Amino acid sequence: MFRSHTCGELRLTQAGSSVTLAGWVQTVRKFGAITFVDLRDRYGITQLVFNEGFNQQLDENPLGREFVLQAKGTVIERSNKNPAIPTGEIELEVSAFTILNKSAVPPFTIQDDTDGGDDIRMKYRYLDLRRNAVKKNLELRYAVNRSARNYLHENAFMDIETPFLIKSTPEGARDFVVPSRMNQGQFYALPQSPQTFKQLLMVSGYDRYYQIVKCFRDEDLRADRQPEFTQIDCEMAFVEQEDILNMFETLIKRIFKDVKHIDYTDAVERMTWEDAMWQYGNDKPDIRFDMKICTLKKPSTVYFNKQDHATLINDAGFVVFDAAESVMAIAVPGGATFTRKQLDELTEWVKRPQIGMKGLAYIRYNEDGSLKSSIDKFYNEDRLKGIAAASGAHPGDIVLILAGAEERTRKATSELRLEMGKQLGLRKEDEFKLLWVLDFPLFEYAEEENRWVARHHPFTSPKPSQIQTMIENDPLIHDAANYLSHPYAQIKANAYDMVLNGNEIGGGSIRIFQRELQEKMFAALGMSEEEALHKFGFLLGAFEYGAPPHGGIAFGFDRLCSILGGSESIRDFIAFPKNNSGRDVMLDAPSSIDEKQLVELGIGVRDEG
Ligand code: AMO
Repeated sequence: MFRSHTCGELRLTQAGSSVTLAGWVQTVRKFGAITFVDLRDRYGITQLVFNEGFNQQLDENPLGREFVLQAKGTVIERSNKNPAIPTGEIELEVSAFTILNKSAVPPFTIQDDTDGGDDIRMKYRYLDLRRNAVKKNLELRYAVNRSARNYLHENAFMDIETPFLIKSTPEGARDFVVPSRMNQGQFYALPQSPQTFKQLLMVSGYDRYYQIVKCFRDEDLRADRQPEFTQIDCEMAFVEQEDILNMFETLIKRIFKDVKHIDYTDAVERMTWEDAMWQYGNDKPDIRFDMKICTLKKPSTVYFNKQDHATLINDAGFVVFDAAESVMAIAVPGGATFTRKQLDELTEWVKRPQIGMKGLAYIRYNEDGSLKSSIDKFYNEDRLKGIAAASGAHPGDIVLILAGAEERTRKATSELRLEMGKQLGLRKEDEFKLLWVLDFPLFEYAEEENRWVARHHPFTSPKPSQIQTMIENDPLIHDAANYLSHPYAQIKANAYDMVLNGNEIGGGSIRIFQRELQEKMFAALGMSEEEALHKFGFLLGAFEYGAPPHGGIAFGFDRLCSILGGSESIRDFIAFPKNNSGRDVMLDAPSSIDEKQLVELGIGVRDEG
């Protein structure tokens, strides 16, 4: 028997028992004739005491950090207790020990506050994984996994595996491809998601499917994106949007309960895509704080069918606002006391290339009701008051105003809002706010190709009331400058995103299940009939054999874990992640392969010599 207990297990009640532990040496300290060793395993740390009888043995075979050790002995009460760890009241008085394996000096300390930088920790990920901080993240990941599986199982969902070597499933990224040796010159694609398979399973009658599944997308990486990531992927037959929203907000609430011990009793808020864009400037608003965007001016060609407040800023001779396509403001609570320096810093912040604005205007709405602004020359106090009121400012606040091209300004104002939320401590890590974003436009306009692209994916159905609009109208865009007046621009999707604290953690839709409508969709996306058949003939075929109405959703499992764990980066919650260039630095992958392999695959140059 290697061990009778783990290193996290022993307590004072076990004093006097003989035990055997096994683990890794965290530290070795010598006090006079006595040696103390902290022994670590997955479950915790136990202090070992080697009395002077071991000195010769320890001199001949000194213990080093990360040595693998087995120690037998008696549990005794510690005179110098350590309340910081659960085993802190006891220690093991060693009677015999074996070095099971030696260790080279690790390249960084295996502690919460490690001295290792990102690169070195990734290179030696197997050592990094020994650290408590990383282990906690993987434990949380497993807890989320278990909670989701339990809930889905209790609700009659069936886990069915789908293949990885497939034909492209489009989700808006590039495919990773795998060359086929047996079919030279041909390639499999790795799934960007199991989308088409789960729909086929609905046709097959497995009316509640789920899978915690790897997806592969060749896209530019960010903190919340990996080239291979995991989804909690689900699909249901005989459902409407409302059924899906209920089923899956309850799933997320269950995960909150099981993993974070949080009773999320509030109703999950719902917002249309249009309101999200208009009020928060993006489609995944962080609703932990208010600070809604006020559109003082919008161009006439913009999608949003909402009123601006142009009369408040027009006809003042202020050329910056007059020349700008749009002008937007936010009222920052308590901001009237911002110093000149703070405002200069904010101005520099909005001018950074990532934000790309030319400047920042402001109106201080002082506690005493007086107003002071950077645009005093053009607007008298009454007009400033009007702008402040429209922005929702109260005495004590500051109104920050950005002007420029519509899309850029909306994005910049949204970023500025998030930055102010952060600076004011309004984005609390331990506060969780769920939101459904609904009624996305079905299509997006691709300017370069003058055609429609699917905003979610091509299998998403329009709102039932708009199916006729889609079928009856020609998808071709004849007047590019006026594409917004095309009937397709107004079609809303039966699609939904779940947003948690400003992150998109899941998305899905009610699907098209009639062949005719699916064909129309492919045509709308610029696919010829031939191309549609070549790419998706199997699905169109399946729709002819009794496809039930169906819909589903997929959650970003890594993302969900990172948010629950209070981290911005999903890498911390993946055992063996890739870096920002898509490399696994531990394996040194991707890497070149043998010429011989290339030739076998039919993609290499045969050496005729
Ligand atoms: P979608 O493309 O919205 O939908 O993906 C679902 C969720 O997966 C997460 N996600 C990612 N996480 C990490 N790295 C990535 N590169 C990455 N890309 C996406 C996000 C996202 O909300 N088949 C549809 C779902 C459906 O319609 O049922 C799909 O894949 O959290």
